[in-house]
Amino acid sequence: MNKQMQDALNKQVARELSASYSYLAMSLYLDGHNFPGAARWMEVQSEEERTHARMLIEYITDRNCEVILETIPQPTHVFESVLSVFKSALDHEQANTAAIHEMYALAKEIEDYATEAKLQWFLSEQVEEEKTAMDLVAQWERAGEEPSAMLILDQAMSSERTTS
Ligand code: FEO
Repeated sequence: MNKQMQDALNKQVARELSASYSYLAMSLYLDGHNFPGAARWMEVQSEEERTHARMLIEYITDRNCEVILETIPQPTHVFESVLSVFKSALDHEQANTAAIHEMYALAKEIEDYATEAKLQWFLSEQVEEEKTAMDLVAQWERAGEEPSAMLILDQAMSSERTTS
């Protein structure tokens, strides 16, 4: 594989693992602030990001290239509110989409068709993940600081992750 492409994919492994780590920190914050449903939701999201990293690792090794794991920065663990947690998750997803777009453009430019095909899954996944994050930001915005609305939303998030 082209060295530039290989480096970009390796960087993406770190990005996915970093997202997983950040979502785990968010889950711990939510759990500590008595939002067990949102905490569980975020924990599952953290696991999903690990799966994304694994998929890329498998792809890099399938192409007979070396996976180099980078340092993962310490994630933010202090937030102003539940809403700010979900706004931060949305920021993460938007940044991740931009990174995948950049990789896709590179794959196209160098005519790496296999990587292009692989990244198509990630492009679709980002559409889903951004939509989910946007919906959740809107829902927590609507709940505001109203305790009963926050409780209902937290419970809804819990059942969403246990039934899927
Ligand atoms: Fe792996 Fe949320 O993107």
